[in-house]
Amino acid sequence: MANLLTIDNLSKNFGGLTAINNFSMNVAQGEILSLIGPNGAGKTTLFNCITGIYRPSYGSISLPGEGAFIEKLPPHKVARLGLARTFQNIRLFANLSVLDNVLCGAFCRTKESLLDIVFHTQKFNSAERTVTARAMELLKFVDLSDKLFVPACKLPYGSQRRLEIARALALEPQLLLLDEPAAGMNASETNGLGDLIRKIKNSGITQIIIEHDMRFVMEISDRIVVLNYGEKIAEGSPLEVKNDKKVIEAYLGEGPQCT
Ligand SMILES: Nc1ncnc2c1ncn2[C@@H]1O[C@H](COP(=O)(O)OP(=O)(O)OP(=O)(O)O)[C@@H](O)[C@H]1O
Ligand SMILES: [Mg+2]
Repeated sequence: MANLLTIDNLSKNFGGLTAINNFSMNVAQGEILSLIGPNGAGKTTLFNCITGIYRPSYGSISLPGEGAFIEKLPPHKVARLGLARTFQNIRLFANLSVLDNVLCGAFCRTKESLLDIVFHTQKFNSAERTVTARAMELLKFVDLSDKLFVPACKLPYGSQRRLEIARALALEPQLLLLDEPAAGMNASETNGLGDLIRKIKNSGITQIIIEHDMRFVMEISDRIVVLNYGEKIAEGSPLEVKNDKKVIEAYLGEGPQCT
């Protein structure tokens, strides 16, 4: 499979602290790649570098298929190239309805000018219908069709995470980055999330997933990359990573959930 994303010799320093140290990896088109590692390993920092929130101190991030280097682009330009994400701490518009939360994502994809929007031109009205239909479709996809008009903050935690995924999907990404999507979920919500992630894969979207729930990671991943103190210490299939000595050592004292 062709590479969708390539990271080369990436480093990110915060003052004297090296959060990512000379990190390289490739992400193949269509795969589910999990990024694991102990707390503070640099996983979220890596997402922030990929999505333009942080400017790397050194190294490059590229989308070979687009012929684009993205490490210096601002977040909205990275999003336009088809990268969408969710956050470790849920970031929904708490008082907006479920539907409106997804519409906010979906309108980023439309081509209407500000004038079209202000004057509610025919072009805008037709775009609004298309976007609303697409948002409803996505909410069906994540199984929230029966909650369209519920304020986001009233949803159970697991459903809020699914709504965040729907909002990210509204950007029609080629690559979806999920930062701890199973955090705070009970066992049945986690199972449902696994099904959703497989459906997303089947729809052709590549995914990078940061997750601490090892059972979930082992089940869902095509490939796993392990970070420790900002460095890649292992990479391979779930089975390879599970039996890797360095990985076992990195998790010792943390109470590994590996089974
Ligand atoms: N904006 C920042 N300023 C200073 N230090 C930061 C900043 N962001 C992250 N760090 C530091 O970088 C290191 C990596 O943090 P990061 O949040 O990427 O870890 P993580 O692997 O996502 O951890 P967790 O599993 O707990 O979410 C930590 O030592 C953290 O304190
Ligand atoms: Mg994190």
